Amino acid sequence: MKGLDFLLRQELGGLRRHGLFREMKRIDSAQGPVVNIDGREVILLSSNNYLGLATHPEVIKAQIDALREFGTGSCASRLISGNMNLHEELERRIAAFKHEESAIVFSTGYMANLGTISSLVGEGDLVICDKLNHASIIDGVRLSRARLRTYPHKNLRKLKDILEKEKWYKKKLIITDGVFSMDGDIAFIPDLVKLSTEFNAILMVDDAHATGVLGQTGRGTCEHFNVKTGVDIQMGTLSKAFGLLGGYITGSSSLTEYIRNRARSFIYTTGLPPTIAAGCIKAIEIAEKGEDLRKRLWRNATKMRRALKELGFDTMESETQIIPVLTGDVSNTMRMAERLFEMGVFAPGVRPPTVPKNKCRLRVSIMATHKDAHIDKVIDSFRRLKDEPRYKS
Ligand SMILES: Cc1ncc(COP(=O)(O)O)c(C=O)c1O
Repeated sequence: MKGLDFLLRQELGGLRRHGLFREMKRIDSAQGPVVNIDGREVILLSSNNYLGLATHPEVIKAQIDALREFGTGSCASRLISGNMNLHEELERRIAAFKHEESAIVFSTGYMANLGTISSLVGEGDLVICDKLNHASIIDGVRLSRARLRTYPHKNLRKLKDILEKEKWYKKKLIITDGVFSMDGDIAFIPDLVKLSTEFNAILMVDDAHATGVLGQTGRGTCEHFNVKTGVDIQMGTLSKAFGLLGGYITGSSSLTEYIRNRARSFIYTTGLPPTIAAGCIKAIEIAEKGEDLRKRLWRNATKMRRALKELGFDTMESETQIIPVLTGDVSNTMRMAERLFEMGVFAPGVRPPTVPKNKCRLRVSIMATHKDAHIDKVIDSFRRLKDEPRYKS
């Protein structure tokens, strides 16, 4: 054990020297637009609770009711004895919400990607990913042992080149984030559908950050582009706009049946607690009818992005509620995040390996429940930051 401790200290020392040591701030309140940290109220500017449903009274009530009726846990893998009526109801609701034939729920979004990808492809197959796809997709591909090729972010000409060159692969899977989690831009789904059809490839979209947010009824990226067919697999999370926990896959019944039988991260783990399933059912109901929430979210996001741009910050290609503020190197990024925190704004810095070395950023994300006063205070804080010469943007 002493040897292990020595090795770990060396590794940790290396992380500290490179400014990559990670520490967590502790939140002592609910996940609202304002949270309590270190005894102070600060504006939360990096949460995925986009619609504010994590503190919605109806979602809380649904969970309390379920707790009384069904207890705390499902206490087994769903394939053994942990499959409860609320799980099946949730899957029906998700399928109906997404206008798909069927849905299957995993305990997290990470596990949904891991289990789905690693069960669908294997050695001798090809997976083609956008360079900026989420880590859970990449981990799923690694686990599958399929060959991984990436194309530069949203560069569909390069994707086409790869498809031309590799067309002899019998099973080809193209995967993209719908809304990119660290950049806030949107994958162009209609062209991806065209290419996947032309080259007979399976198309999978990870809609973690688009679900509940994009499209008239919050169905996500496909609804945003009015794409009704051609995406074979849609993945989403229950942990972001819905404010709870879990991940899901939607598509054909044969897809979800196959996953239920083959995905190890579904089979070998305990099902979601029934309280979470009950909360998710209510959250989906609210989100689907939540046009007002989405309007507020877009209004807040547009105001914030416009103001940041006017102040001269680089918000990259953001077109959604996720607004990166490019800060360059690690030390500048962390100093800016700390200075904002002193001013009462919690927008953590994002560093490698989550983003490339010289593309560190503050990941600003907006909530429908931010009030005008919150947005104004954040803009004013960025303005002050801009005027302090030690911070470059
Ligand atoms: C694009 C994307 N996919 C998948 C996940 C994993 O989802 P979860 O947090 O529900 O495990 C995330 C979350 O960080 C994500 O951003």
